Amino acid sequence: MKRINVGLIGGGFMGKAHSLAYSAVPMFFWPSEIMPVKHTVAEFTDELASEAAARFGFANSTSDWKTLVEDPEIDLIDIATPNNSHAEIAIAALRAGKHVICEKPLARTVEEAAAMYEESRKSTAVNMVAFNYRRTPALALAKRYIDEGALGDILNFRATYLQDWSADPNSPLSWRFQKKIAGSGAVGDILTHVLDLARYLAGEVTEVSALTNHIIKERPLQQSGVDSLGNSKGGSEGPKGEVDVEDEVMSLLKFESGAIGSVEATRNAWGRNNFITVEIHGSEGSIYFNYENRDELQVCFKSDGDDRRGFRTVYTGPNHPNGAALWPIPALGIGYGETKIIEAHDLFLAIAGVEPVRPDFGDGYQVALIDDAILRSAGTGLWTKVPQLNRDTGAVTDGV
Ligand SMILES: NC(=O)c1ccc[n+]([C@@H]2O[C@H](COP(=O)([O-])OP(=O)(O)OC[C@H]3O[C@@H](n4cnc5c(N)ncnc54)[C@H](O)[C@@H]3O)[C@@H](O)[C@H]2O)c1
Repeated sequence: MKRINVGLIGGGFMGKAHSLAYSAVPMFFWPSEIMPVKHTVAEFTDELASEAAARFGFANSTSDWKTLVEDPEIDLIDIATPNNSHAEIAIAALRAGKHVICEKPLARTVEEAAAMYEESRKSTAVNMVAFNYRRTPALALAKRYIDEGALGDILNFRATYLQDWSADPNSPLSWRFQKKIAGSGAVGDILTHVLDLARYLAGEVTEVSALTNHIIKERPLQQSGVDSLGNSKGGSEGPKGEVDVEDEVMSLLKFESGAIGSVEATRNAWGRNNFITVEIHGSEGSIYFNYENRDELQVCFKSDGDDRRGFRTVYTGPNHPNGAALWPIPALGIGYGETKIIEAHDLFLAIAGVEPVRPDFGDGYQVALIDDAILRSAGTGLWTKVPQLNRDTGAVTDGV
């Protein structure tokens, strides 16, 4: 068992999720190839950093993330900061020979994502982008069925990611509403997750036709530096700042395989909290997944016969991907935390040389290329080709 020292940058929502995963990996995946050691956490200020260290179980803390990258004792840099710092930190970490896991979206722009991917190609260290929803066992099971041919040829992919935490115009102007920090709105923040699922389950997206909507143009300035994920603090009287990113997006998709599809995302849908749905139709059957029922994959197979065909529920458990490591009974309850635990374990398998990990920076870059095509399409109103990354050469084509 190899010990690796983790340097975590960012002690917010994702800092919590990743720290939980580092503690939990050996509890679930045992014997563990890698034993993560929570070495140092970096935050904006010394106070925030030492608080994060105490809370998340890190031995040391610092207000300067560069000291983590320069520290020879640190093996893995975990980037859990807002999007504007991903490129600078990841490039520095890769240059220092560190393994890197970076939260999604990989970067604010295609240019930043390209630079990160370029650097990753020069490094022998492991890189990963944290699109964790594909680690939900029910979605990994859907992938298994597709790879086995149980759905036949994929004809159609439909997905939604609907939330409501920003539906209140009085919820504060967090970094997620500022283009200079976030890069984009619903597209980079949440559509990227379902675009990752689209590529994972149905293959490359080659062309898009998109609409975006920008509904809430200003929001109250935050009263502290800590993002509160948009929860309203009640008042609308204080000073406001400009929201310069889109609230909603819908896009039609064409896939390389000939399949077609649609994706949509909004953070303004009252009553929808983390409403990720995926429905796939193939020539031999269909699957449906709803994150509100994370243990369940709805399946319907043509071979079921005319008198019994219909959607039925497979409850994920020990017989399904990663299930043996999780809980001993199907439907006991898969949570967000489990997706992060599986993600960290898969990262460790790659660091241990057992098997490469995806999604990596190349996948994050390809998703950034789709994001960019969607935003351009929404601007022009035209079908727009998605440039394709050739992972062998590192070059990007003009689309296929
Ligand atoms: N995979 C997912 O499901 C998921 C969910 C939420 C957020 N994210 C992504 O994770 C990243 C972080 O989001 P979050 O929700 O944790 O944000 P957050 O605002 O809750 O936390 C970010 C933390 O980073 C700190 N920080 C910012 N710049 C820093 C710097 N230069 N040095 C040290 N610390 C710094 C902030 O003080 C804050 O505590 C974003 O890229 C976001 O898109 C992913």
